[in-house]
This record gives sequence, structure tokens and C-alpha cells, in this order.
Amino acid sequence: MHDFNYRHNNLYCESVNIEELARKYGTPLYVYSRNTLISHYRKIKEAFSPINPLVCFSMKANSNLAICKALVKEGAGLDIVSGGELYRAFKTGVSYRKIVYAGVGKTEKEIEIAIKRHIFFFNVESIPELELINKVAGRLGIRQKVAIRINPDIKARTHKYITTGHGGNKFGIDFETAKKIFLGKSRYKNLNISGIHMHIGSQIVDAEPFIRAMKRIAGFIRDLQRRRVAIRWLNIGGGLGIIYSKERPQTAKEYAKAVLPVLKKVNANIILEPGRFIAGNAGALITRVQYIKETPSKNFAIVDAGMNDLIRPSLYGVYHEILPVKSRSYSNSKEIRVFDVVGPICESGDFLGKGRKFISLKEGDLLSVMGAGAYGFSMSSNYNSRPRAAEVMVEGSKTKLIRRRETHEDLIRTEI
Ligand code: LLP
Repeated sequence: MHDFNYRHNNLYCESVNIEELARKYGTPLYVYSRNTLISHYRKIKEAFSPINPLVCFSMKANSNLAICKALVKEGAGLDIVSGGELYRAFKTGVSYRKIVYAGVGKTEKEIEIAIKRHIFFFNVESIPELELINKVAGRLGIRQKVAIRINPDIKARTHKYITTGHGGNKFGIDFETAKKIFLGKSRYKNLNISGIHMHIGSQIVDAEPFIRAMKRIAGFIRDLQRRRVAIRWLNIGGGLGIIYSKERPQTAKEYAKAVLPVLKKVNANIILEPGRFIAGNAGALITRVQYIKETPSKNFAIVDAGMNDLIRPSLYGVYHEILPVKSRSYSNSKEIRVFDVVGPICESGDFLGKGRKFISLKEGDLLSVMGAGAYGFSMSSNYNSRPRAAEVMVEGSKTKLIRRRETHEDLIRTEI
């Protein structure tokens, strides 16, 4: 399915032995497969080829420059949510005309820089934000394209922290208010309000909530068109789920097949903003077992990666598969033991996986936490004054360090 496979009992990323990477670059270490990354981008492009959409990679999933550059080189645009991501986006060499900017709390400074750079679209999340963008655009003498982010009031079955498309959360604008904005858009003299944006949540594994949301939005667009309000762009967001354990998510093809009929009825250009689907399975977090600790109630594998490196299990209680970098067979079932895989951080919530079975696991062994390419490194921190991990990208048999490991000096660099 992806490019992490065993060869003679050793886990490889493409044609590179992960054990060698760990020896060379140390652990914890993020390892990415360029092939998985690019092929997932292409899967989306291909699935949607009948309507030739602009696919903007959602940088929040993984904002490493090398990752983003690889996608930009393939033709991707970028979906950003902050001045920092805007800065990173510039560094990738992406055409500013392929940048879309979402987020509920854009500051005046961020808005100003983005307008000056001539980004493609702001995805606007409230009326005060719309007014601020209008004001800044006026000051700069630039007419700015904006899309209104609609909250279609759809519940998607996913983790409560990552569902964004139902009433009662902070994202988007309700239909009624959006309608008023579109019908009265002439009062925003410096804006070209010509797009609609939606993003209903993340790690959504079936097409049904997307379709429900899109149908509502398509009806809304038709209603506006009847009132002579042209909607030229529809951004359908990201949110496509991936396999972490037993999910059976829709493929890009199935997703496209389900939503294309709805999209084709809307006479607008389409934008997509996938993050996890492109980067998620392209990355693994490699960590070394520091101690095996046996207690009366449980065995712990204490590893050198913690919640500061990968916070998803601690924050959302979600599952990441954990594979031994050297796979072993067993002759006696007693060699199979169950472990909680935990980090060195001083919190009980610091774990990467619970109740995981390993064969003859011992100190010094390497483990690979799978599906860590999205919202892994990008959510990492220096908690407990832990330098952040290094990142490497594998392409065939070649390896490139794309972020060096932080040093202790890095930890205090900005302190006065
Ligand atoms: N567009 C917008 C406006 C978004 O807010 C997001 C993600 C995306 C696109 C990309 O969604 P994706 O295709 O990756 O599902 N940290 C959480 C995920 C938070 C997602 C936030 N928004 C996690 O680790 O599961």
C-alpha cells in the first residue's frame, strides 16, 4: 500500500533500511517516503481530472519546506492558516496565485502581507474579518479575491476536536448570514467576493457527510446564481481520512466518483485542500526502546520519542500502528508480550500506543510509529526542553536530511 515494507525482516522506507537511518541520524527521527507523498498528491489530481481542480496542500499537516517544495514542484498550491505558513509558502517558490488562506483569527498584519503578496483567496470566517480585509485592501489599493467559508451545519463522524462543519463551532459562516453578505457585496468595495469555501472536518472516512454538505452548498450557489450573484470558485476543503488501523476509508477515486456529480452541477472552478491524505502515510516516527519496565500490572516499553514529538495519541486518544524495525518470529508464545509504549515525558498522558504486542522486545530495539507524516512533526514542541527530532526524506535509495535535529543551544536561542 505504501513504501514502508519489510525486506528480510528489516523495515525499509523505499530502498533504504530504516535501521541504518536511525544509526546515521539518531532517534527520534521522522522518515518520509517521497514516493508515497507524491503518489498521493497524484491520486487526488487524477481522481478529479475531469474538472481539473487546484489542489492546495494543507501546510498545517506538514510544513517542512522540502515536503512542501516537492508538492509545489508537482503543481500543488498551498493552503495556509497563519503568517508563519505564509512565510514558509514563499520559501517554497509556490506561485502566490496558488495560495489560499483560511483561519478564524487572521491579524491585520497577516492580512496586509498576504494581500501585498497577491495571494489567490482569503477564506473568510466572519463579518468583522471581511471588513478588516476590505479595509486593508482599500489602503493598499488592491482588489482582493475572497471566498466565504460556509459552515454547512453537518455533523461528520470523526473526533470531536477535528469536526468543523456543524453549527456551534467557531468555523465558517451560516447560510443566512452568507446570503446577506453576497447580496450586499457591493458595500465591500475592495473585495471580489466570488468564492465559497467549506471544510467540514478531518479524518472523515466516508463520502456521505461531504455529499450532504456539498449538496447544501450547491443549492445555496444555485439560489445565489438565480439572484445574479456569480460564484466562480468553490473550495471543498480537505478532510479525507486515511488508514491508521482498521478504517476502510474511501479512496480518492471513490471520493471523486461520489462528489463529482454534485460538483459538476455547480458552474464553478474547484479547489481542494487535502493535508492528511497526501502526507499522512508518507511518514513514520522512528524511536528507540530505552528501557523495558515491568510492573505488577503492566509492561512498559519506554522509548525516546514522546508526546512532544507526536502528540496525536495523547491529545486525541487515536491509534498509530507501531511496528518493530526488525521483525522477529517466535518459537514459544511466551516471547509475545504486551506493552504500553510510552515516552520519557513527565505526564501519564505521554504514550504512543497502549496494549501493543511485540515479540521478544528488548532495550535498544527500534520501533516505527506509522502514519506520522501528517500532524506529526508539525504539532511537535519542545515540552520538557526536548530538542525536536530530525527529519529525513527518502527517494529510492537516496536519503536527504530535511531538518537537522535541534540542539540544546536551539532550545534557548530566543530567550533573553
Ligand atoms: N482546510 C482547512 C480549512 C482545515 O482546517 C484543514 C485541517 C484542512 C484543510 C486539512 O484537513 P485534512 O485534509 O488534513 O484532514 N491535528 C488534527 C487534525 C486537525 C485538522 C485541522 N484542519 C489531527 O492530528 O488529527
